[in-house]
Amino acid sequence: MSGPRGIALRSCGIAVPEKVLTNDDLAATLDTTDAWITERTGIKERRVGGTTSTLAAEAGSRALERAGLRAEDIDVLVVATTTPDAIAPATASTVQDLLGLRQVGAFDLNAGCSGFMYGLVVSAGLVATGADRILLVGVDTLSRITDWDDRKIAVLVGDGAGAVVIEAVEGPSNLLSHNLHSDGSLRHLLYCEHGGYLWMDGQEIFRKAVRVVVESAEQALADAGVGVDDIAMLVPHQANRRIIQAAGQRLGIPEERTAIVIDRYGNTSSASIPLALDDAVETGRVKDGDLLLFCGFGAGMSWASAVLRWGS
Ligand code: UT7
Repeated sequence: MSGPRGIALRSCGIAVPEKVLTNDDLAATLDTTDAWITERTGIKERRVGGTTSTLAAEAGSRALERAGLRAEDIDVLVVATTTPDAIAPATASTVQDLLGLRQVGAFDLNAGCSGFMYGLVVSAGLVATGADRILLVGVDTLSRITDWDDRKIAVLVGDGAGAVVIEAVEGPSNLLSHNLHSDGSLRHLLYCEHGGYLWMDGQEIFRKAVRVVVESAEQALADAGVGVDDIAMLVPHQANRRIIQAAGQRLGIPEERTAIVIDRYGNTSSASIPLALDDAVETGRVKDGDLLLFCGFGAGMSWASAVLRWGS
């Protein structure tokens, strides 16, 4: 091997549970309304159910199929999740078995809602050191760690998975730039103890999220040597439509050039960025060669951005 090897995203695929939970369904048992949830979050409905490993395997299988690859073509499996099936083994072990992958490396990665972004950068590192094809899955089943009597959290979360096949390319990488960040002194803003429920200081995260997303996105643009007008689509973490709008406005990227699926899926944590990416690709809004700006943030507090050229 001579010189650094770059990466390209060859395909994506998603899986969401069949069960739809609308705002009105929640308003039937909680002191909330469709109007409040829609106005404050942009969420209309979410999917709930399934296990982390089965959703991940389903999304992974779709991504493989779309890439025209078989299970044996994959060299490493990375599963980004905050809601593993069990403490041990890693959920990746179950996903590996369900997909029938070879005895290749398979591991979980937990970086809160930034998990997919961290997985992307880790995958680029694995490719640089020899892996040819990586299956990266962002998956979470937040419904399992949600107190459904707590209206502050229950209206926000949903379950889902999104996967991408990452391939080695010789020559310039399609990953033009990236940055990863974490501030562990802010870990109290969003957490879930063993056996407990998700808790967060929503207002504080909201404030911090807009600031760090804009800062890291601008850093990623500068490092890639491109401007906002070169970006075909902003693909942000889907935690709140107002956060997406505020960050987009400050960056100068209009909503027409922003991938948004929060209305249908709620906050799916590690799955939200690949769910948004898949939607943009499947609706023809992202084409081969387009530049994408990814931004994630979440528990940790972690955040990350990347500029990536879509397609191989
Ligand atoms: O995935 C990464 C991490 N998560 C995030 O990024 C989430 C960031 N935060 C947010 O998205 C927003 O802060 C929330 C959606 C969580 C909350 O929206 P908000 O506009 O910040 O509302 P708030 O917490 O300031 O609450 C406003 C009012 C309060 O009532 P009072 O004190 O004004 O009487 C809440 O009790 O809304 C009340 N409220 C609700 N009302 C109806 C809180 N939740 C609900 C609800 N339905 N579900």
